[in-house]
Amino acid sequence: MQGVHLVDHPLVQHKLTLMRDIGCSTRSFRTLMNEIGMLLCYEVTRDLPLATTTITTPLTDMQAPILAGKKLVLAPILRAGVGFLDGMLELVPSARVAHIGLYRDPATLNAVEYYFKAPQDLSERLVILVDPMLATGNSAIAAVDRLKKAGAGEIRMVCLLAAPEGIAKMHAHHPDVNIWTAAIDEKLNDHGYIVSGLGDAGDRMFGTK
Ligand code: URA
Repeated sequence: MQGVHLVDHPLVQHKLTLMRDIGCSTRSFRTLMNEIGMLLCYEVTRDLPLATTTITTPLTDMQAPILAGKKLVLAPILRAGVGFLDGMLELVPSARVAHIGLYRDPATLNAVEYYFKAPQDLSERLVILVDPMLATGNSAIAAVDRLKKAGAGEIRMVCLLAAPEGIAKMHAHHPDVNIWTAAIDEKLNDHGYIVSGLGDAGDRMFGTK
């Protein structure tokens, strides 16, 4: 599928299966979310540009690769996106973080913004939008709208699961946003949940249901 990177690494697939299972505890779910966050972060940053710097090893001077440009921005959608954050920050500890507060109106399934705080210079940084579930696509589209309004240029999205409907809608609105996901599931149900899915990611992660 164009613009979609399916991360089929066996470790990711194994951990995702553990998370989907209804018997997975809150504690395990949270741990696995962080672990997969780290692995997906590794994939989404695979082609980051490098520059060369001169360093001195114990033996000699050498030209060595180093990340080029400004630190990237991780942009989790509250609240479930936060589940990926610690794992990603472990891999990219100096990343900046933009918090995007959106909730899904249960009647319309539309995204409603209640919080937004991002670094000033978004235009100079790669922004990685983070939300475990790309379901209807409404929240992700609203988040990209908001990030672009705040000046963001290149935006990539990382999710755990995506529904075909969400991918199609996202790419209809924002064809420039590539998506990294661990799985593309069958469909959405009438309540906007992903099937087969894993239920409500936020509730399972925080033990709120
Ligand atoms: N959000 C979730 O947490 N789960 C879904 O299946 C869809 C949206």
